Amino acid sequence: MEDLEILKNKAREEIKLAKEALEVDELEAKFLGKKGILRKYFSWLKSLPPSERKKLGQKLNQIKEEIEKAILQKRKELKEVPSREFLDLTLPPKKVTFLGRLHPLSQIFKEFIEFFLRLGFEVLLGPEIEDEWHNFDGLNIPRDHPARDLWNTIWLKDFKGKLLRTHTSPVQLRAMEQKKPPLKVIVPGRVFRYEATDPSHEIQFHQLEGLWIDKNISLVNLKAILTLFLKEIFGQEVRLRFRPGFFPFTEPSLEVDILKDKKWVEVLGAGMVHPNVLKNGKIDPKKWQGFAFGLGVERLAMIKWGINDIRLFFGNDLRFLNQF
Ligand code: PHE
Repeated sequence: MEDLEILKNKAREEIKLAKEALEVDELEAKFLGKKGILRKYFSWLKSLPPSERKKLGQKLNQIKEEIEKAILQKRKELKEVPSREFLDLTLPPKKVTFLGRLHPLSQIFKEFIEFFLRLGFEVLLGPEIEDEWHNFDGLNIPRDHPARDLWNTIWLKDFKGKLLRTHTSPVQLRAMEQKKPPLKVIVPGRVFRYEATDPSHEIQFHQLEGLWIDKNISLVNLKAILTLFLKEIFGQEVRLRFRPGFFPFTEPSLEVDILKDKKWVEVLGAGMVHPNVLKNGKIDPKKWQGFAFGLGVERLAMIKWGINDIRLFFGNDLRFLNQF
């Protein structure tokens, strides 16, 4: 009797450990098959006296049923869980997961920069935390001059005389400090203004500054290059307007507008570099002259793509970003 109990437990254990349908088939043959273990017990029954035969016969039948049940159960389990053969980890994934892309501002910056590289400009960067000299005084904007009000400045409380640059123009001076004329640089970068935000104002935005200093540079060169540039970005049919403006660091100064939805939208400031600025950059204004411009990158992107709220650029909303 005892070895029947052991047999039952052994069968159960082996069936439980089976991991593939084939193993279950083998176990079925081993225990229940024509040449299986249980068969041998059943034939041995015949040699026993009738009284014992009945008792043992019942016991054997019970074990047989239990093993059949365990096998059935195992087959069901194996159907539910995919077997190892189907888990091929070397297969490429079925669905390509979300692919990133360049932020619209990076895309448009790339386009702008490539244009100016073709014209022989080189790219220069400057610090976002600036000092008062480069952002203001050196650009002919002394303290207490009303022109400072044009740039609502974020000053750094813990660092005297330091501020978040309000424009990329300080890099004009930095270019003059670093290089000898002739100079032909563009400066892409982030700038900051102390401003309430609304659909057309942000406390941070981007500018592209341009500076070309050489012996015979005039307003004609400035106008030609800006016209070429804006037509490249917006198409030949774009309507432009050059009008007089004021900046302390250029003389004469001008502003450029683009016609959008029957309205003129200002997109950049420009002018001939003021002699005082050249002097501050240790360049002799009697020998050299040049032009500078600074354009608002978000403004241009908004006109180009019909975006009506500047805050969308910094909102990190995929419904917006995925459109570019
Ligand atoms: N820095 C000016 C601004 O932020 C733009 C400008 C740049 C004007 C260069 C003239 C020359 O408004």
